[in-house]
Amino acid sequence: MFYKGIFFVAFLMLFSVSTKTVAQEDESLTFLHGPYLQNVTETGATIIFSTNKLSVPGVLIKSGDGKFELIQNSTDGLIDVGKNIHKVRIENLDPGQQYQYKLFAKEFIEYHPYKVVYGETINSEVYSFKTFASNQKQINFTVFCDIHHQADKLGKYLDSNNIEKQDFYFLNGDILGHIEEEAQVYSGFLDTCISKFAAEKPFFYARGNHETRGKFARNLKNYLDLPDNSFYYAVSIGNTRFVILDSGEDKPDTQEVYAGLADFDKFRLKQLEWLKKEVVSKEFKKAQFNIVIVHMPIIKNKENRYGMEFLAEHFGPVLKKAKIDLMISGHMHKNKWINAKKSGFNYPVIICSNNDYIEAEVDKTGISIHLKNLDGDIIDEHKIEK
Ligand SMILES: [Fe+2]
Repeated sequence: MFYKGIFFVAFLMLFSVSTKTVAQEDESLTFLHGPYLQNVTETGATIIFSTNKLSVPGVLIKSGDGKFELIQNSTDGLIDVGKNIHKVRIENLDPGQQYQYKLFAKEFIEYHPYKVVYGETINSEVYSFKTFASNQKQINFTVFCDIHHQADKLGKYLDSNNIEKQDFYFLNGDILGHIEEEAQVYSGFLDTCISKFAAEKPFFYARGNHETRGKFARNLKNYLDLPDNSFYYAVSIGNTRFVILDSGEDKPDTQEVYAGLADFDKFRLKQLEWLKKEVVSKEFKKAQFNIVIVHMPIIKNKENRYGMEFLAEHFGPVLKKAKIDLMISGHMHKNKWINAKKSGFNYPVIICSNNDYIEAEVDKTGISIHLKNLDGDIIDEHKIEK
C-alpha cells in the first residue's frame, strides 16, 4: 500500500512536470515589454526589453545606409542569456549620430552542457535614437514627478508634451507609490513611457521617498541602467552637467513605519562624499550650466521635515559653494518658484506639483522653463540667464 502511494505521487509529479514543459514549449518566443533606452551618452546606449522565455538577447544596430550589426553582451566570458529583463549595452558609437535599431532574441529548444539546439529567432520593428554631443547647441528635456503610479496621468502629460522636440526625460521621484511586485513597475509608468517615447528617447531616474517602500523596492534597479549602478550620478549633455541626487526617505530612519528597514542617513552621507568630489570634477567645472535634479528640494525652510532638513544642513552648503544654476524638485505636491535669494543657498529652485510637469530648454543664453498643467497649458515660465 505504501509503495502504491509513492508510485501514485511520483506519477502525479511526473505528469505535472511534463504538462508544464509542454506548455512552455508550445509558447513561441515573444517580446513582452520594451524596448526602452537607458544611460545614453555621447558614445553609448543601453537598450532594455523582456521576453517570455529563456533566450539569447541582442540588438541589431546601424547608422545611415550601413548594414545592421548584431550586438550581444557577455559577462565573465559567457554571452548573456536570460529570461525576463535583457539589458544590451552598445558602446563605441559616434557623438550626435542617429542610429536605427531592432531587437533580437533567439530561443532555445534544448540547452544542455554539450548540446544546444536553437529554435526561432525573432526581431522587433525598427526604432531610432540619437547619441548626445558636447557641441549640440540646444538641449530640450522634460521632467515628470509625483505620478504616484497613476500612469493615465503620465499619459495625459505626454499627450501635450512636445515629444519630438525632447532629447531626454527625467523621472524625478515618487513616480511609483510603493513597489510590491514587478507588474507595478510596468503598469505604474514603464509601459506608458515605452508606448509614448522611451524606445527612442532615454529617461533618467531620480528616486523619490516612495520608491523606497514595499517588498519589491530593492528590485527597481533591475529595470534601469544607471551610471555606476548608483541612484546618485551625474551626466554631461551638451553644455550642461546634470547632477541627479537621491534624497532618500522623508522621515527619520528610526520611524516606526519603516520597521527597522531604513538606513538613509548613512546612504545620504555616503552620497555627500560623492557630491563633494563631483562638484570639483573637470566635467562639472567645464559645463556652462549645472542643474541638480532631486526629488525633495534642498532649501532652508522652517517647515522642513527630517529628510529635507538633513539635506539642507549637509548638502545645501556644498551646492551653494558649487554655485549651481538651478535645482528641479517635486515632493511638495504644489508648484513653487524660489528665487536664488530665498532658497537659502543662492540657487533658484523650481518645485513642480503632482498635477503639472516641466519642459526645459538650454542653449548658450540660458535655461528656459515652462510649467505645463494636465491640459497642456503653460501656467508659469522662467528664464535663467548666465
Ligand atoms: Fe515625495
